[in-house]
Parts: sequence; C-alpha cells; structure tokens
Amino acid sequence: MTSTAYSRPSKLPGGGGGERRLPPRLMRGFTAKIEPKKLGAGLLAGCCLALLTYVSLAKLFAIYSPVFASTANTSALLQNAPPSSVPETVKASIPPEETTLVGPKKDSTAADPVDSAETGPDMAGSQEPGLPEAVSRKDDAEKTAAAAEPKPKPSEENPEKSNVAAAVEGTAKANMTCDENGVDEGFPYARPAVCELSGDIRVSPKQKTMYLVNPSGAATGFDEKGEKRLRPYARNDDFLLPGVVEVTVKSVPSTAAAPQCTKQHRVPAVVFSVAGYTDNFFHDNTDALIPLYVTTAHLKGEVQLLITNYKPWWVQKYTPVLRKLSSYDVINFDEDAGVHCFHEGYLGLYRDRDLIISPHPTRNPRNYTMVDYNRFLRGVFELRRERPAVLGEEPGMRPRMLIISRSGTRKLLNLDEVAAEASELGFNVTVAEAGADVPAFAALVNSADVLLAVHGAGLTNQIFLPTDAVVLQIVPWGNMDWQATNFYGQPAREMQLRYVEYYVGEEETSLKDKYPRDHMVFKDPKALHKQGWQTLANTIMKQDVQVNITRFRPFLLQAIDKLQP
Ligand SMILES: *[C@@H]1O[C@H](CO)[C@@H](O)[C@H](O)[C@H]1NC(C)=O
Ligand SMILES: *[C@@H]1O[C@H](CO)[C@@H](O)[C@H](O)[C@H]1NC(C)=O
Ligand SMILES: *[C@@H]1O[C@H](CO)[C@@H](O)[C@H](O)[C@H]1NC(C)=O
Ligand SMILES: *[C@@H]1O[C@H](CO)[C@@H](O)[C@H](O)[C@H]1NC(C)=O
Ligand SMILES: *[C@@H]1O[C@H](CO)[C@@H](O)[C@H](O)[C@H]1NC(C)=O
Repeated sequence: MTSTAYSRPSKLPGGGGGERRLPPRLMRGFTAKIEPKKLGAGLLAGCCLALLTYVSLAKLFAIYSPVFASTANTSALLQNAPPSSVPETVKASIPPEETTLVGPKKDSTAADPVDSAETGPDMAGSQEPGLPEAVSRKDDAEKTAAAAEPKPKPSEENPEKSNVAAAVEGTAKANMTCDENGVDEGFPYARPAVCELSGDIRVSPKQKTMYLVNPSGAATGFDEKGEKRLRPYARNDDFLLPGVVEVTVKSVPSTAAAPQCTKQHRVPAVVFSVAGYTDNFFHDNTDALIPLYVTTAHLKGEVQLLITNYKPWWVQKYTPVLRKLSSYDVINFDEDAGVHCFHEGYLGLYRDRDLIISPHPTRNPRNYTMVDYNRFLRGVFELRRERPAVLGEEPGMRPRMLIISRSGTRKLLNLDEVAAEASELGFNVTVAEAGADVPAFAALVNSADVLLAVHGAGLTNQIFLPTDAVVLQIVPWGNMDWQATNFYGQPAREMQLRYVEYYVGEEETSLKDKYPRDHMVFKDPKALHKQGWQTLANTIMKQDVQVNITRFRPFLLQAIDKLQP
C-alpha cells in the first residue's frame, strides 16, 4: 500500500512557539488563549483515527466515486448539455469563444465533489446529443475550428502537396506506447489509460479514429483488427467510462489506407474527453486541467488540443487556462470534419491522485508538482501574491481570512459567530461563496492569507492561495477523515500550504437533531460508509455544522501561528 504520501506530519501543529512579532492587535488576541502546544492532544487523537480508518476506507472508497449518488445515472452525468440552470435560450447559443461568461447560475465552483448529483445537470432540461441543440453546437464548433485553423487554401487541399507526412514517411517510424495497467492501491481511478503515438498520425474526428501509418508493423499493441480503443477521460472510473467517447487508433499499412490530410500540424496532438464529472470545480481540476497540465506543460503552448464530449461552456469557462497551455484554438473532436495530421500525439491524459502530482519516470518525467501548477495558475489569472502577508511587517496590517460559505449542504450555521471571533483575533475577514467567475474568485482567494471552509469542493480553491498560506478545513461529523485528508488535506501540504483541520464533534452537527444518539450515525458511522455512497449521501453528507467557538478558537490561533515567519 502506498501510504507514505498519507502519513500525517510528525510535527504537531502549533509547535515551535518561537519569537512572535505580532502587531498589538493580534497580541491582544493571544492573551489568555490556550498555549499552542496543548492543542496537540485533540489533533493527535484525530490523526490516529485517520490512520486506522485509512486502510479500510481507502479500499472501500475505491468502489464508489466521490460524486456517485443514489439518483445518479450515467446519462445524467455524461450528457453533453449545459447545466440545467442555464436558460434554454442561452443554452442553445453559448458560443465557446465569447468573453462574457454565460455560465450556470448555479454556483458551479462551489459545487461539491460529493453532491454533484444534487446540483448536476437536470435530465428534463437537457438534450441528448443529436437533437436540435446539437445543430447550434455544431455551428459554434465550426466557428471555433475555423478560427483555430484558417481554412486551407485550395492548393493545401491537394493531398499530394499538403501531405507532409508522405515526405516523412519512412523516416518517422511508427510507434505506440500505452500506459494502461498502472495501479495505485486505494485509488483505482488515478491511473487512466494513455497512449503516446509517433509517426504519420492522421486524426479523423468524424470517424473517432486516429490512423497510424505503420508499414513495417513496427508499432505494436493493436488487436487482431489492427486497432486500439480507448476512452480518453482522465479518471479511470467504470461508472463513467461508458459515457466517454471511445477513440480508435487504427494501424494501417500505407498512406493509401488512411484518409488524406486536410490540415498538417507541426505540433503534437492531445485528444481527451471532458465528459463525466466536469463542471464541478474539484473535478474540473482533478480530471481535466491538472492532467492536461502534467501532459502538456513541457510543450510550452506548442500543442493542439482536441476535446471530445465537448462542452462549449466548459471550454469557455477555462479558456484562460487552455490558452496558456495551447497557443492554438481547441478542435472540437465531436464535430470537426477535417483530417488533422500530426507526427506525435497523445490519446488520453496522465493523471495522479486528487489535486496531487507525484514524480514518475514516464507519467510525470519532468517532475511537475502542485506548486508548479499553482504558479502556472497565478500566471494564467495574473494573481499577484506568491506569499502570504508577513505578520508584523506592516503596522496595522491584519492578515486576511477568506471564509468560503456554502448554500447547499454542509453549511456553517454560525458563520457570523466564527467570522466575529476571527475578527476579534485580528483577522480581516471576508465571506464569499465561490462563483462561476473563476478569474474573479481566483483573485479573491489569492488575496487571502487564510482560507477557511467546511469540507467541500469550494476548498479546491486553495490552488489559488499564495504558497505558505493557511488552509483551515472544518471536517463534518461521521468518519469523513479519508475524504478530508485525500481530497484537501494532503493536497494542501503538497502545495506547500499550511494545513489545519478541525473535526466537528457530535454536539456540533445538525445530525444530532435528526438522529438519536444511539443511531449508527453516532455509534458507528464507519458502518454507514461501508454501506456505500447512497447511504452516505442520504445521511452523513446531509449535515450542517455549528462549531463550538470555545473549542474552535484554538484552531483559529493555530492559523495565526502558522503565518509566523
Ligand atoms: C438511466 O439512463 C438510461 C440510459 O442510459 C435510461 O434508459 C434510464 O431510463 C435511466 N434511468 C433513470 C433512473 O433515469
Ligand atoms: C516508442 O515510444 C516510447 C515512448 O515514447 C519510447 O520509449 C520507445 O523507445 C519508442 N520505441 C521505438 C522503437 O522508437
Ligand atoms: C525527477 O525525479 C527523479 C527522482 O524522483 C530524478 O531521478 C529525475 O532526474 C528527475 N527528473 C527531472 C527532469 O528533474
Ligand atoms: C481588509 O481587507 C481589505 C481587502 O479585502 C482591504 O481593502 C482593507 O484595507 C483591509 N483592512 C485592514 C485593516 O487590513
Ligand atoms: C464547547 O466546548 C467546551 C470545551 O470543550 C465545553 O466545555 C462546552 O461545554 C462546549 N459548549 C457546548 C455548548 O457544547
């Protein structure tokens, strides 16, 4: 079991207790407060519990996805339609390249990896691909494609002339290497299949096929029909994959057996899907943007992206990120009618755990880290701050705390009280709900020194924090430590953020008004986890929290403590 990445830091939070250079206001906050060292005991208990339960829960959790829910249906999750809250009229006409965001009204950035089915696309308001809506999508797609690649001039349409590959043929040896048997114990979805191709590659989106001219049969890995099929969504998830467009790599003996190129590209192709759980901010990052970064960052923009299960609003929402990764407009792999020729190509994306990137000789040979990804995002969104405020450096300066509120489940019921306490302790507090306007929210998060939120997708926004800033996660009742650790806690550490977690007790959850104390929810929450996602979604995931300020205050102090240089 690869548990090293998950061992808790041996140094307890709040340690050190060295010299403090706090402004007087903050000093006042500290008087008569609990000594940081005493905070250890409670946390230690939490850590042990987490380590014990990790082994069993990791395996268990693997069998259901974090967004799997009782009502979930593959078709509901995978369809190619905008979220339900987008009015029908807007839906049919969302242009992928418009600068104004016609995003979902529903706060998708705040949507949670574990309750996507509650907020996800609405069956009634959506249409299957192929119905009238697809027509306008097609128009948009063609516009995009047209903008991306100026229409070939007549001479270029002549296959004899445009077929650069023909000249290369014989010199460029066909090759295909697929990575599809990777195992990450407890994280079976973390190793999606990826194939790397080189040679004379001809991509026909219409046929969902990548032809590989393979005259000598040098490239191997094909079935008896000379094919290799792959669903290029960067999450190896049996539940999702049936809805991901299947792409075929076809080995052909000669150029004559492959379609003629309508466009020759000098840069590599990357074909991937944005089906599945995307449009949930956590999954947008874990299943698409981070994998795309890991796969293509080294190409410095010299790469052609081809997206299948194409969602115009998704491409639009993340245009700044896609633009930074690729200097060329995205090709809609669902609609494009051309034949695009390449010398190199990727089918699928390399991916690691959730909001985690580890070095790997073939999957991540350049050893990109989450810190690199954070820097990359700062570049994309022009975020100013690399580091948090240094306490005491500027007279009268108060460290800034951003509290991300939630409007659905897992609300912080006494948010006002928490905000007041944080202010009392010296923080300059802002409360905000994550919105669909990614650049604006990224800027707000980047301006914070401490990010506080109850467990949920909103915490994904920690990717915008300055390095060394503090994340404070409030973990709801009910053995939520596996999720808390693996989705946000460990990622925070990987991003070189300072991490504080607060586990709510029985007295602090709204579940106490719903279930008697001898109910399994309190007596044996782990058993509820074992019953699967549906049970969990209907019980433990449906709670709000009201933190006991007396108990919580030391954790706010820890946050201040961690801002000490
Ligand atoms: C689930 O999706 C399938 C199509 O994939 C459909 O036939 C079925 O009726 C759906 N079930 C529900 C409960 O929506
Ligand atoms: C094929 O590609 C892989 C990875 O890109 C490389 O390691 C291998 O050496 C290549 N094989 C040949 C025969 O060129
Ligand atoms: C990546 O890390 C490995 C050790 O984990 C090291 O051997 C290798 O040289 C590193 N590669 C780069 C490009 O830094
Ligand atoms: C509090 O933060 C806001 C920005 O969020 C800033 O404009 C203001 O000056 C800060 N106040 C103090 C006292 O630091
Ligand atoms: C809040 O926590 C403190 C310290 O653990 C405890 O003494 C107190 O009874 C709690 N208050 C409530 C209302 O539960």
